[in-house]
Amino acid sequence: MQMQSLSVGFSSPFSAEVCAGLSHPEQKQLPSKYLYDAVGSALFEVICALPEYGLTRAEERLLRQHARDVVDQLPRPVVVAELGSGTGRKTRLLLEALARWQSTWYHPIEISPTALALCRRELRDINSISIVGFEREYLDGLREAAARRAKGEHLLVLFLGSTIGNFDGSMAADFLRDLRSILLPGDSLLLGTDMLKPEAVLIPAYDDSLGVTAAFNRNLLARINRELKADFDLQEFEHRAVFNPESKSVEMHLKSRIRQTVTIPDAATSFCFEAEETIWTESSHKYSQEELRSLAEHAGFSPKAQWIEAYWGFAENLWIAE
Ligand code: AVJ
Repeated sequence: MQMQSLSVGFSSPFSAEVCAGLSHPEQKQLPSKYLYDAVGSALFEVICALPEYGLTRAEERLLRQHARDVVDQLPRPVVVAELGSGTGRKTRLLLEALARWQSTWYHPIEISPTALALCRRELRDINSISIVGFEREYLDGLREAAARRAKGEHLLVLFLGSTIGNFDGSMAADFLRDLRSILLPGDSLLLGTDMLKPEAVLIPAYDDSLGVTAAFNRNLLARINRELKADFDLQEFEHRAVFNPESKSVEMHLKSRIRQTVTIPDAATSFCFEAEETIWTESSHKYSQEELRSLAEHAGFSPKAQWIEAYWGFAENLWIAE
């Protein structure tokens, strides 16, 4: 019944989700998808260039080396849909390899209009690729992309960058099953997954010495201030990255330095923070091979091929819908 009173009078899904997350009694939380406004997306770009954060460069190396192999394994003709297009730099490698075979529809799906515009600008020069993007939640956008394909065309879903790792626990498995239910047998999923590696490598990747990841994390509070007119004092929240061995995830938190109250006038609510209390803002799960196998099976896919970047520890997985 608390949810009901919360759902009255919110000006946006953003304010509703922020308030719901900050109302969790045992662990305050904020959805990680809201990290990527214009500022957050720009900061994430910088993170990808940091020496400590090898993930994105590892995936780029993989795709640079194997884009043709990936395309060779695909049932064609193919229509491409991408969940979370980002800047499109990695996607370019695949689309260029595909464009050698066929002209292709490409549907980026993004809730961030900034990211969608960026990706369109980055990729529009590739010959014989036609871009129609959807500013939607992932599965809503995917349904639209699926509805647009012609008879005989297969869908290829790109879900790169280990974004699947941001789904908490069993949510990843459920999400992949829901995704599969939108596909037809013979459609495919190219899934990027960051593999489990020592904590001594993982923690610096999420707590870099320049403080870029800290800024990326704290920008979530700055965004709530900007868009919902809240009064978070950014100086009083510290970035924390911790490895949770049970869930095999790196968790980002924002820790309140002091006991304080924050007001969100747009939602007509305030929230009290104890000293040392944290807001959990993101989990980034790290995968094992056994887990990938069981995820594929649970979701109704059969693994067709896998490419591994061994230096950092990243895998590109090609699964076919059964
Ligand atoms: C883009 C979601 C894969 O989890 O590693 C980077 C986001 N968070 N540094 C990740 C992120 C902190 C990133 N993903």
